[in-house]
Amino acid sequence: MALKRALIFLGPPGAGKGTQAKRTAQQYHVPHLSTGDMLRDAVARGTELGRLAKPIMERGDLVPDDLILAMVEERLKQPDTREGVIFDGFPRTIPQAERLDAILKRYGFGEPFVVDFHLDQETLLRRLAGRWTCSVGGEIYNVYERPPKVSGICDHDGGKLIQRADDRPEAVKERLVAYERKTKPLADYYRQRGVFHELEASASVEEVGRALGEILQRAQGRDGHL
Ligand code: AP5
Repeated sequence: MALKRALIFLGPPGAGKGTQAKRTAQQYHVPHLSTGDMLRDAVARGTELGRLAKPIMERGDLVPDDLILAMVEERLKQPDTREGVIFDGFPRTIPQAERLDAILKRYGFGEPFVVDFHLDQETLLRRLAGRWTCSVGGEIYNVYERPPKVSGICDHDGGKLIQRADDRPEAVKERLVAYERKTKPLADYYRQRGVFHELEASASVEEVGRALGEILQRAQGRDGHL
């Protein structure tokens, strides 16, 4: 399978975008660009960007567009993005989407392919409350739905599992408000262009992965490219 364009995974916090983006990136052999992971890495390394982003992320608000766009543009300069890329958590505002259009054009990519994850609020709150992430490789677990074999330890690399600071109930509330106000309008932005696909994300990781695979397969051209 080959990917010659940008995939964008949209959807509310906890919908399973990161979980499916990791699997899809492995399948298509393209990088998974999670702006949330990139920011958390900047926070952990104590960079200037991390210092600015940390308090904003902890309260559940969005980091300013210009900081995000500079970070994404820098990442896209790396040659591993030439065959395509999966964006997870980006774009998140209309100005980010408009700038991304210009960037993709510059890199010779066609229209992005957008998948919008749908999930009811009760399920996403449960998913966020139960999420644990590997501090080494970033593998995502859930104590209710997808527990590790040994509590607190990653099955893949033995890394310590940690909970995200923004999965506290107060921060989750703010993240949902930011999603409704600033990110949800992106559905119409892309729907109008005919590059938009909806995905019901309440089933198991495997079933959602299968449904996503079917969407992607239907979109593939005769040459196997998306
Ligand atoms: P970010 O890291 O992007 O977080 P998010 O979009 O809120 O999404 P999440 O990572 O919480 O959820 P997800 O949909 O990836 O779900 P996951 O697969 O982990 O952003 C964090 C912060 O960074 C933002 O609040 C903002 O401050 C800043 N930021 C990032 N990008 C930005 C941007 N572009 N502009 C401005 N600011 C930005 O799954 C969740 C849980 O459910 C896991 O435990 C998982 O195991 C489980 N699970 C997943 N799928 C299933 C399933 N099918 N069945 C059962 N359990 C499942």
